[in-house]
Amino acid sequence: MRTTPTGRRRPFPRLEAGEAPRRLPDLETPAALVDLDRLAQNLDRMAAYTTLHGLALRPHVKTHKSPRIAAEQLRLGAAGLTCATPREAEVMSDVSDDILVAYPPVGAPRAARLMALPDSTRLAVALDSAVAVEHLTAAAREAQREVHVLIEVDVGMRRVGVSRPSEVIELARLVRDRDPLRYAGIAFYPGHIRQHVSEQDGAVARLTSDLAALIAALDRAECTPWTVSGGSTPAAWRMHEVARVNEVRPGTYVYNDRTTAEIGACAWTDCAFTVLATVVSTAVPGQAVIDAGSKALGREPLRGAEGEGYGALIERPDVVVTRMSEEHGILDLSRSVWKPEVGEQVRIVPNHVCVVVHLNDVMYGVRGEIVETTWEVAGRGR
Ligand SMILES: Cc1ncc(COP(=O)(O)O)c(C=O)c1O
Repeated sequence: MRTTPTGRRRPFPRLEAGEAPRRLPDLETPAALVDLDRLAQNLDRMAAYTTLHGLALRPHVKTHKSPRIAAEQLRLGAAGLTCATPREAEVMSDVSDDILVAYPPVGAPRAARLMALPDSTRLAVALDSAVAVEHLTAAAREAQREVHVLIEVDVGMRRVGVSRPSEVIELARLVRDRDPLRYAGIAFYPGHIRQHVSEQDGAVARLTSDLAALIAALDRAECTPWTVSGGSTPAAWRMHEVARVNEVRPGTYVYNDRTTAEIGACAWTDCAFTVLATVVSTAVPGQAVIDAGSKALGREPLRGAEGEGYGALIERPDVVVTRMSEEHGILDLSRSVWKPEVGEQVRIVPNHVCVVVHLNDVMYGVRGEIVETTWEVAGRGR
């Protein structure tokens, strides 16, 4: 473990020899910043929670898309990684030999690409249809590759997943019939639980009883799930309460965002990711314009929380980006005494960090004003 002279953990090395250290004013904006101390705390907190409760942590890499952070998650005890896209799986196979693709493997090109992952990678896939089973079987047979399969269950989000026990049992039996596929268990994503953490009790209780009923039916049908994989960031800290869940897949927790903070799943001071921007105009009274618009901040609404706009200033959360063009973000100053000047830098916490990370090639790892390191968002794109 790398430590500073005071014993604090440093997850990333400083800039390579020869690279001149930079300060924030030296960066061209907009730029994606990661506060390295907050990142380290977020990684530690989730690792400690899952260790305490005996849950396997299989973080979803869609948030950071960076093998460097994935390697740190694995170093801290993660059992493997979760990916959504073939690109993510390819990039992450450099650092992990245990990958779950939590996305239906539908279509021969997608399935074939997954089969081309290194032979040393233990590959698992979540799916919810007989068509996906057939596509995966064809590709796995062609590649002569064992693939572990989790049946995706809908627990309330109404996105993917079968919901009736009979459908899960039918798919589990189909998988068992399709060598070299291996039925491994079930996966669910509680993405519908995004109310404030103080109001999640009812939803968590419902999830617990629905899953218990489903798993009892699977047990009776001799389709006992070895793996019960769930978890998200908004409901992360409740997963130990859900009986039989033995694996969790939070993703957003590494950086957190305005939504996560607004619903109480993290503190505002746990937001590790910001977009550094420059005030480019104050000509119109009551507002300031920054050089971060929808192409730097995304256009995601706050979900599950009250609040307007697309992001808020980390140092002044009452100042919100209320309107955007592609390259312009409008800061509403009506509730603030702050008088920004043209040329001043600001840092914005976006509503939904994952899509904003995906808009960037490079992350700048910072401590205070100093850029200590950079890394590529290697898993972005297709
Ligand atoms: C299937 C699946 N698992 C895990 C996650 C991670 O959830 P969160 O971003 O809330 O941490 C996601 C996020 O979209 C997901 O789609």
